[in-house]
Amino acid sequence: MTCDQKPELFDNGDELPSNHSANPHISELIAGLKRRQVVAAGAAVGALGFLGTALPGSAQATDLKPIAKKVAEAIKRRRERLGFQAVPVTRADTISVPAGYRAKAFIPWGTPLCGRYPAFLEDGSNSAQDQAEQIGMHHDGMHFFPIDGSRGYGKRSDHGLLVLNHEYIEPGMLHRNGPSVSNGKRTSADEVKKEINAHGVSVVEVRRDARGEWNLAPSARNRRITGATPMRIAGPARGHALMRTRYSPEGHAARGTLNNCANGFTPWGTYLTCEENWAGYFATRDSELPRELSRYGVRGTSRYGWDTVPGDEFERFDLTRKGADARDDYRNEANQFGWIVEIDPFNPDATPVKRTALGRFAHEGLVFAPARPGKRVVCYSGDDSQNEYIYKFVSKGRYIPGMSNGRLLDEGTLYVARFEAGNRGRWLALDIRDENFRRACAAAGVSFADQGEVLINTRLAADIVGATKMDRPEWGAINPDTGDVYFTLTNNSSRTQPDPANPRAANPYGHIIRWREASSDHAGNLFAWDIYQFAGPEGEGKGPKGKPLTAANIYASPDGLWFDEDGRLWIQTDMSGSQLAAGPFGNNQMLISDPKTGETKRFLVGPVGAEVTGITATPDFRTLFVNIQHPGEGSTPGDLRSVWPDGAGKRPRSATVVITREDGKRLL
Ligand code: FEO
Ligand code: CA
Ligand code: CA
Repeated sequence: MTCDQKPELFDNGDELPSNHSANPHISELIAGLKRRQVVAAGAAVGALGFLGTALPGSAQATDLKPIAKKVAEAIKRRRERLGFQAVPVTRADTISVPAGYRAKAFIPWGTPLCGRYPAFLEDGSNSAQDQAEQIGMHHDGMHFFPIDGSRGYGKRSDHGLLVLNHEYIEPGMLHRNGPSVSNGKRTSADEVKKEINAHGVSVVEVRRDARGEWNLAPSARNRRITGATPMRIAGPARGHALMRTRYSPEGHAARGTLNNCANGFTPWGTYLTCEENWAGYFATRDSELPRELSRYGVRGTSRYGWDTVPGDEFERFDLTRKGADARDDYRNEANQFGWIVEIDPFNPDATPVKRTALGRFAHEGLVFAPARPGKRVVCYSGDDSQNEYIYKFVSKGRYIPGMSNGRLLDEGTLYVARFEAGNRGRWLALDIRDENFRRACAAAGVSFADQGEVLINTRLAADIVGATKMDRPEWGAINPDTGDVYFTLTNNSSRTQPDPANPRAANPYGHIIRWREASSDHAGNLFAWDIYQFAGPEGEGKGPKGKPLTAANIYASPDGLWFDEDGRLWIQTDMSGSQLAAGPFGNNQMLISDPKTGETKRFLVGPVGAEVTGITATPDFRTLFVNIQHPGEGSTPGDLRSVWPDGAGKRPRSATVVITREDGKRLL
């Protein structure tokens, strides 16, 4: 989803910054530290290979031949880790991949998936019910579950469940002639239902046939989870007074998941979908908003106007206080969003669960540190809005392979990151049982009745403890070789004050930050960080070890991030507006960067107007699934800005892309 500063009906959905806290940027905490010094310090750290692999040593060898041979072999091996010709920047309306690779569109929006398997109608006339049985719109985060992985980490590479998010919709393309609106109100309940049903998640059983082609398999496991699917609320906010609604007077149940951006998957074989820019789905006529709404950017009108249609299923998007208490209206409906939702893809009857212990914010995604038997589980999540924070959760319980399940995510400690000068950082507990947290609340004059209220107000809790305002945290990924945690910071047009971890003001291109937990203990409180890469054009972009970016790897607005099992970092971009329309970067792209060597190469360029997002592979690494979201963004039936993937005259459709090698071997 792209960034738009004007909240309007049918805008494209990124929320306006709502962190108006007095919480200082870290630069304010470091009196006298000049930006130049900070950048220089970061560069020096990078040059020393702070978190990277040490270069071959300066051995005083008497016989240099064997050493030279070993070095030559090592260099050759490293070169082969990115053994393809970089794809040039382009604005072609197609998928470009290196020679020797194939990219094929798969399960585009509208593909028949379940129920009656209704055919996709090219003129946009499918009904709301049809859409509930078809692949949703605007594919995003995604994971391939091998069919033998119902208890975590299967091995099958020819058969599995592909589970993917549908982040948002473009009503201009979803309906026959765009949305029906009169006097600012939606006039078709079926259209609005279709929009709600085009959101959420698809669970798709997929098989690779003898020719190596992937197909959707008709299956009882195929499932749509939408913006209306009944869900259970779990964790400390379950049953909280601020979670009660007319639909769920006990505060135990919710309807639907919305704006599902990136994702996660658990060690026990379930999918996690993350609710990102949800605030804009709600409207309110109340002039005074409680902190659990105002701190999240809820404002007067809603993005799609769903609240303007009569009926309980739509009125819930109107947060206006109408009744005597919260059980009489939907003042608390928005408190049921901003969570991470766990879905068991192997059980089509399982009710999705909102896991509230993981905090409430604009969750981009969730990435787990490697789960170790007998140890606590740790996972990281970014809050993708300008000047928001990075969080981690540490479970109270221990991981037992084959026994643990989602309840492990209901009890534990949520922390927020403070990136300090000197490349040090600390995790600050947001827990009412924590003495430092209680002291910070008292100093700020803020009170929370219980941990449920802390979590519903996660952003405020993080303000209070002095978390570092970041340049829009997007995806995280963990290097399997080192345990280092990498996060994309996509850009931040509103940054006026640089700080060590966000050293560009404003930051139009974004960067990738990484950290290593002290003693390599992901559950600990201290870490060391550095900046892995500054995105940007030639002359401004800088790779690891200070290597300037070149024509083979310039990019901007990093978003999706993933490590393959061999420790290569895959970077996906979400450039928008002028960055996409003109300038050196071309269409959105996917690059591969090797932390071992510092080499980065462009692997894929997407079609016109599209974002490249979502990535997962089969265990044999012969198939990569990548999502293409919103090709031709902003198109209308009379103005198709892209015709990918179906060709001339056809509406553009978000789709998964199946990437394989022509020789059928491992991708790299
Ligand atoms: Fe939906 Fe933060 O990208
Ligand atoms: Ca994005
Ligand atoms: Ca994203």
